[in-house]
Amino acid sequence: MQSVIQEGTEEQLPEGPLGLEFSQVHFSYNQDKPVLHDITFAIKPGERLGIIGRTGSGKSSLSRVLLRLYNLDRGTIRVGGTDTTKLSLQALYRRVGMVTQDVQLFDGTLRDNLTLFNGDVSDQMIKETTDRLGLSQWINSQPEGLDTYLAAGGASLSAGEAQLFALTRVFLTEPSLVILDEPSSRLDAATEGMLQSAIDQLMKQSTGVIIAHRLATLEKVDRIMVLGDGKVLEFGAREELASNPASHYARLLITGREEELA
Ligand SMILES: Nc1ncnc2c1ncn2[C@@H]1O[C@H](COP(=O)(O)OP(=O)(O)OP(=O)(O)O)[C@@H](O)[C@H]1O
Ligand SMILES: [Mg+2]
Repeated sequence: MQSVIQEGTEEQLPEGPLGLEFSQVHFSYNQDKPVLHDITFAIKPGERLGIIGRTGSGKSSLSRVLLRLYNLDRGTIRVGGTDTTKLSLQALYRRVGMVTQDVQLFDGTLRDNLTLFNGDVSDQMIKETTDRLGLSQWINSQPEGLDTYLAAGGASLSAGEAQLFALTRVFLTEPSLVILDEPSSRLDAATEGMLQSAIDQLMKQSTGVIIAHRLATLEKVDRIMVLGDGKVLEFGAREELASNPASHYARLLITGREEELA
């Protein structure tokens, strides 16, 4: 069978953090029900965008079409100035990392799961990264450290641990654009703190798109997008939106109703 995703031949993307641009993007899983409607926005290299919106508004779908897991109905997505359909998938995946809401684990050791079986990643590099992300203590507390065996499915990790783990995995690939789909489940304060500092570290070298389910995550972003029913309801600089009492974001800040971020 031939994949419906036709990849391009372009291999080159600019060095360093990559800009991102959606231009009149329309998308649906099934013809009858549009999921993304006329999405247009741009963020510059190194900027951080926080996306919020009620459950089912299309946040995860937006990240999936960005990674070319589905074809668009219409419109263009550019990464580093290049239309993603013109890029080879390898070129795209080498530079763009994604942490999904549900973390996939494979039958293998902790090390295998962190490096995705890439033997070129040294234990030293894993150690430096996990130290920086505040994950070393947790790894050391596992019965055999990096050699601890994990079963597929990931029942052995809590939601917060799984996210820290997935961040480390993406961190090790040194991406230039990161998409982070936060878990919507509640995390304890300690894990939340660790996650926040890990996210900060990860975003230092890259452009970031963070699908946020907690107000605290949004404190560090430059821009905010509010999605509703697959449409952009609001897009702007975080500080401007915060100081405009009529904005969705300002209302969220006042009411503190995090459940509306779900
Ligand atoms: N694989 C799929 N096939 C068909 N429809 C889908 C699929 N995945 C999602 N949808 C639909 O697309 C819409 C947007 O879903 P999406 O997962 O993008 O929402 P979300 O904003 O990420 O929600 P949440 O906050 O719960 O994660 C929903 O109506 C959903 O039912
Ligand atoms: Mg989602």
